[in-house]
Amino acid sequence: MTCAPRKILVTSALPYANGPIHLGHLVEYIQTDIWVRFQRLKGHAAYYVCAEDTHGTPIMLKAREEGITPEALIERIGAEHDRDFADFNITFDNYYTTHSDENRYFSEFIFQQLQSKGHIEERTITQAYDPVEEMFLPDRFIRGTCPRCAAEDQNGDNCEVCGATYAPTDLSDAVSVISGAAPVPRESEHYFVRLADFEAMLRDWTGSGRLQPEVVNKLNEWFEIGLQDWDISRDAPYFGFEIPGTTGKYFYVWLDAPIGYIASFRHFCNSSGVDFDAFWAADAAAELYHFVGKDILYFHTLFWPAMLHGAGFRTPTAVFTHGFLTINGQKMSKSRGTFITARTYLEHLDPDYLRYYFAAKLNNRVEDIDFNVEDFVTRVNADLVGKVVNIASRCAGFIEKGFDGWLSAELPDPALAQKFSDQHGVICGYFENREFSRAIRDIMALADIANQYINDVKPWVIAKDQSRADELQAVCTQGLNLFRMLVTWLAPVVPQLADRSAEFLRHPLATGSALNQLTKPLIDHQIGPFSRLLDRIAAEAANAMMEDTQLMNQNDSADPSGRHLDGEPISPQITIDEFAKVDLRVVCVKAAEAVAGADRLLKLTLDLGGEVREVFAGIKSAYDPAALVGRHVVMVANLAPRKMRFGVSNGMILAASGTDDAGGIFLLAPDEGAEPGMRVR
Ligand code: 2FM
Ligand code: ZN
Repeated sequence: MTCAPRKILVTSALPYANGPIHLGHLVEYIQTDIWVRFQRLKGHAAYYVCAEDTHGTPIMLKAREEGITPEALIERIGAEHDRDFADFNITFDNYYTTHSDENRYFSEFIFQQLQSKGHIEERTITQAYDPVEEMFLPDRFIRGTCPRCAAEDQNGDNCEVCGATYAPTDLSDAVSVISGAAPVPRESEHYFVRLADFEAMLRDWTGSGRLQPEVVNKLNEWFEIGLQDWDISRDAPYFGFEIPGTTGKYFYVWLDAPIGYIASFRHFCNSSGVDFDAFWAADAAAELYHFVGKDILYFHTLFWPAMLHGAGFRTPTAVFTHGFLTINGQKMSKSRGTFITARTYLEHLDPDYLRYYFAAKLNNRVEDIDFNVEDFVTRVNADLVGKVVNIASRCAGFIEKGFDGWLSAELPDPALAQKFSDQHGVICGYFENREFSRAIRDIMALADIANQYINDVKPWVIAKDQSRADELQAVCTQGLNLFRMLVTWLAPVVPQLADRSAEFLRHPLATGSALNQLTKPLIDHQIGPFSRLLDRIAAEAANAMMEDTQLMNQNDSADPSGRHLDGEPISPQITIDEFAKVDLRVVCVKAAEAVAGADRLLKLTLDLGGEVREVFAGIKSAYDPAALVGRHVVMVANLAPRKMRFGVSNGMILAASGTDDAGGIFLLAPDEGAEPGMRVR
């Protein structure tokens, strides 16, 4: 039975255009992408849109610090994000920007609708003002002494020592993080949305099964406290949209960010012809889902439905909230060296591994999930390689060699195939309800059964007896059919593995509405030659990813408040003997080339004065490969080889760098006359 296709619009939270995508972000994009791919493979019209979140003070200040315009900054970071998402196979139908005409239009429209219906109030408020920078200071740009415990240099709104929360005006010795000047109180006119006007509507919306139970509890606490007016304006200087009819007043970034969902979809409709109103009109029949992290619930479950309702749009069908990612059990952080960026991961590991690992851990509750490096390697190798791919590799060779790739016309054990088919509804139900870990558990239990079948029928024994050829073809056909079902279920999770398997089976697994065709057996059909579908994760590759992360995190001198220290702090002291362990050599670059699929890396062939080494260096943004050939540089010659996705790196060349690539990369080179192989001491 197939139901009429559903129309579904799905979003993930918009990443800020001032920093790299990291594994914490990817929990959400991978979770959403799996769900969207699942819906598409069920034959539904599921659209997935997102955008860069481009406005606000931090982006304005970062651009200023780099000496570029905010437009240039958001374009550069946007391009990096685009590549990261593409390389993780996140299938947005449209990825846009909040700094767009469409977003300006909808932001103004929603504001004017709210204003004309009397939901906006103007009031004068007093805020901290930086007299040197001539700007109002968001809380995170003020630091000072805690009013409760007197700890110095605390955040503008909470103390990390005693946990007190307060207003920035309560701090003693407060300073502006930007100029160092003492902030002064200053009045300004602001615009507020009267959220309490929407209380009845919000209570109704909240109580109708659209939210996870723990989210409903949180909302009830907020209703108890009482809905506060929401300040949606900011004073110049600000990077954002100026509020119509004002000078120097801007929409707060959190007003126009979620409107970016509408704007991105509008932009998509313009080019695709999809009917915008069918998704956004007040009476739209289409479904609308937002995937978000638990830290931005207030915006998505109170402000956002209120804004939509107040402006005459439909409200979300549901908001799906997830928890945070921890790394080896601890909060992800630069100071611990565990701030793993998407790019660093991709330089060492296949994206399907992470997609699988997250899926195996994700459920539909607001729980944190942990990335444990050892567990990651073990789990992915045991499940994907040891269980799933193993089934195909145990059967494929016999079919290829003995039967010219032809599968038998019947399955020898239809009851076993039926046992798998019987789980189809259950597994799809788990995907639909975002209980991915349960889906994976069931799929792996079936993979165990498939392997047990092969253990029992022993094709390698049958193959020894010419007279049992039909039987051999039949049992291997059975095994490959079980494999095909498993990979079809896994297709939303591991799309690259599914694509390679589809090519091998010459049968669609991850395209069209493959999940609706799953129970029909693949028989009397010629498959392609078997090639390795997925390699095991090498522990060295995972370790090298963590080591690189540590190095990158050390290089980044931004402290947690976002301030930049004057220089990078000097590392702890070492002895001369410890230093002597590092064997530095002058080398000559013999060849240099870009690496397909790697944005930062160049592959260098280095002459150490006799010995030749291949090294991957993250210097592509600063050096044209051709210009490097013939240059003398310095390398660490006794660094343990490091396995990367693109090959093994046998050493490391030395370069100076700022806090990120934007600050420049400068190769270290010896003076004229130094010869390859000379030791640097
Ligand atoms: O918290 C964040 O990272 C925001 N950039 C999310 C915005 S989501 C949406 F509302 F735009
Ligand atoms: Zn304190």
